[in-house]
Amino acid sequence: MPSLVTQHLLSLLRIDLPIIQAPMAGVSSPAMAAAVSEAGGLGSIGVGGVNVDGARAMIRDVRARSSRSLNVNVFVHAPAPADAAVASAWIDRFRPQFEAIRGAPPARLTEIYTSFRDDDAMLSMLLAEKPEVVSFHFGLPDPSRIRALRDAGIVLLASATSLAEARLAAAAGVDAIVAQGYEAGGHRGIFDPDAPDDRIGMAILVRILARTLRVPVIAAGGIMDGAGIGAALQLGAAAAILGTAFIGADESLADQGFRDALFSDAAQHTVMTRIISGRPARCLANRFTALAAGIAATDVPSYPIAYDLGKALNAAAKAAGEPGYGAQWAGQGAPLARALPAADLVRLLADEMRYR
Ligand SMILES: Cc1cc2nc3c(=O)[nH]c(=O)nc-3n(C[C@H](O)[C@H](O)[C@H](O)COP(=O)(O)O)c2cc1C
Repeated sequence: MPSLVTQHLLSLLRIDLPIIQAPMAGVSSPAMAAAVSEAGGLGSIGVGGVNVDGARAMIRDVRARSSRSLNVNVFVHAPAPADAAVASAWIDRFRPQFEAIRGAPPARLTEIYTSFRDDDAMLSMLLAEKPEVVSFHFGLPDPSRIRALRDAGIVLLASATSLAEARLAAAAGVDAIVAQGYEAGGHRGIFDPDAPDDRIGMAILVRILARTLRVPVIAAGGIMDGAGIGAALQLGAAAAILGTAFIGADESLADQGFRDALFSDAAQHTVMTRIISGRPARCLANRFTALAAGIAATDVPSYPIAYDLGKALNAAAKAAGEPGYGAQWAGQGAPLARALPAADLVRLLADEMRYR
């Protein structure tokens, strides 16, 4: 029998299982989200890396496959302070890597993603398309945007990596908090990447938030199977959100190099680094993360300016047959990943946790 907090969250999200497939910009797909939602979980798409037209097309693609609940995830990062000197030193630093693969670094770096903080077109599109759920990563939009989404009947989630961030999200009117532990794959949702970070693990963070806040808590970080979900629920989470567990799914957009690394010994080692994108993010240890040693945080251009170079380096390397410069985001649970169709994985997770 699910706990009261789980029952409350399931009815709020209009889903059957306390299993949420994490939004993973560039890796999750409309087909994945639809398959997860059809199987009774909550499917998510990450639109942080696409413009409003791309985001609308993704939502409609999910809608064509499923009429069940959908979570659309946006990035709410503070705008990047552009520093031409830092950017040009960054380009120079990576010249040897580009030369080794006979590629050319970009001449200049730009802010490749628009933050939802400032994206009126994205807000209007969401209000028109009305996904059942919208989730925020890296921060919170201003109160008027939150009010507009809530008034449209959209349930709101926000990532928090500390009690302080969770309190801000709850006070802003977010319906449930995603407690993202330090073991989680992908970008750390920390609001200010330059502020001190207590690097709290999922189990402790869930416990602290569940005992302190009145809003439901969703556990994120290192949850790979039914035992992990069950443990998170025991700690007081209302549901679990799994990212790395879905990277190997058939519907995942992860490229072959990423899949090969995930299902090799490389999965035993993950690194939290900001050198790929400009914000701390957990990645499989690879040729790119190996370059992080000795680089000061102040030398890295702000997110997402650094990501402009990171993506160019990966594209040039892939073209040269070198997969080791990918943003192979994955959590510490990576060795437990399984390659299955997303719906089968959801059913397996439910069986493993003996969810009735
Ligand atoms: C490949 C990948 C991409 C991710 N992209 C996003 C994203 O676009 N938006 C977001 O809010 N979180 C993103 N995350 C973080 C997840 O939302 C979640 O916090 C994390 O996957 C949980 O930890 P786990 O990977 O150990 O399950 C990503 C995670 C991974 C592994």
